[in-house]
Amino acid sequence: MTTVVRVDSPERRAAMTAIRMTVFVEEQHVDPAREIDALDDDPTTVHVLALADDGTPLGTARLLAPHHGGEPAHIGRVAVSAAARGLGVGAMLMTDLEARALDLFGAPLDGVRAVAVELSAQEQALGFYARLGYVARPERYLDEDIWHRDAVKIVTSSDTGRGSPGSVGAGT
Ligand SMILES: CC(C)(COP(=O)(O)OP(=O)(O)OC[C@H]1O[C@@H](n2cnc3c(N)ncnc32)[C@H](O)[C@@H]1OP(=O)(O)O)[C@@H](O)C(=O)NCCC(=O)NCCS
Repeated sequence: MTTVVRVDSPERRAAMTAIRMTVFVEEQHVDPAREIDALDDDPTTVHVLALADDGTPLGTARLLAPHHGGEPAHIGRVAVSAAARGLGVGAMLMTDLEARALDLFGAPLDGVRAVAVELSAQEQALGFYARLGYVARPERYLDEDIWHRDAVKIVTSSDTGRGSPGSVGAGT
């Protein structure tokens, strides 16, 4: 079973970095100097790692805190190793971080707990995010020579069915 765990050790941090360098730098030709940024070390940033049952790292993503209260949280750097794509790993990473965003930054809304999550989606991945309920804004822009569009989702306790992070698989 695949589990999603928080990056909370040097070993997990190295695995996270290795996946991002392979996926974004080698595969997508993102500038390595920009791939790892200051937000990676911000104490409010939450990094997660998907692990196969034998411990093999399969994918990673990060959650950025809202800049100010009431503003959206941000999910980014969503990357799944090429060999592990199409197996639900990306969706598990997203669901885990949405639950963490709800837990950390959610507020009452119409009788449920809710949080807005925003992301900068590569256009080739818009279908992936749309399946998860993200609605893309029409404006497109180039970042690292890749076309992107911002997309947003209101995550609620009723649509995740999860009250707390770590409930995807058995990780923490
Ligand atoms: C985009 C990415 C994270 C998806 O991860 P994944 O583990 O392959 O996705 P999943 O298997 O969880 O797919 C979940 C659903 O989204 C669909 N999907 C996955 N990638 C898709 C894409 N690029 N376009 C449209 N749909 C996609 C799957 O078919 C699946 O649909 P289903 O629920 O109907 O079966 C992965 O392909 C990746 O790491 N790509 C390279 C890095 C990247 O582009 N990251 C996004 C930057 S914005």
